[in-house]
Amino acid sequence: MGMPYSEKVIEYFKNPKNVGKIEDADGKAKEGSPACGDMVQVYIKVDKETQTITDIKFESYGCASNIATGSIITEMAKGKTIEEAKQITWQDAADELGGLPPVKAHCSVLAIDGLRAAIQNYEEKHGLLKDQKPTTVEIVEDRLKRVMNPMTGLDVIKTDLIHDISVEDGVVTIYVDLDEDHQFANAIKEDIKEKIEPLWDVQRVEVHFGE
Ligand code: FES
Repeated sequence: MGMPYSEKVIEYFKNPKNVGKIEDADGKAKEGSPACGDMVQVYIKVDKETQTITDIKFESYGCASNIATGSIITEMAKGKTIEEAKQITWQDAADELGGLPPVKAHCSVLAIDGLRAAIQNYEEKHGLLKDQKPTTVEIVEDRLKRVMNPMTGLDVIKTDLIHDISVEDGVVTIYVDLDEDHQFANAIKEDIKEKIEPLWDVQRVEVHFGE
């Protein structure tokens, strides 16, 4: 049975805009959806004077709705300030696309999460976050909820893959319940580092494996 997609969704899926990678991105993020296990990566370039998004690209490992939403939100965000871009909601994106089937709402949420996380990554790297709280185990745990366990498509916290976290003098140490030779060990390590390293007071992230 076919999905009742709008013409615009199909058009954007067939001819997506702003697909790709920005090598020297000022902010980037990879987000996964717990609903379907798909992923999206968003890259932004920001003019430091005006805090305007001058370039934005995305790579989607998701479905047609995700590709169409990624496409539309990159078009909507380009030329906006980071504050304006943060206000774009999945509903705005869905409206702009002429609606999405309700079962596909999470796909546009995923694209919006990717955009917001890329902006947050930019803000963290450039010391722009207002109230900077010291990093705690809870903050680290919260971020790890955005790291996918590729074996299940759910996050590493929900799937009990993390058996300990410590935060001490700017060093975050994370113990992963997985053999270090496991085929996904490296990918998980990279994802963890990508999520934790931008925290403003973190100097080093160590990821240890072992069951
Ligand atoms: Fe996974 Fe759409 S079903 S992003």
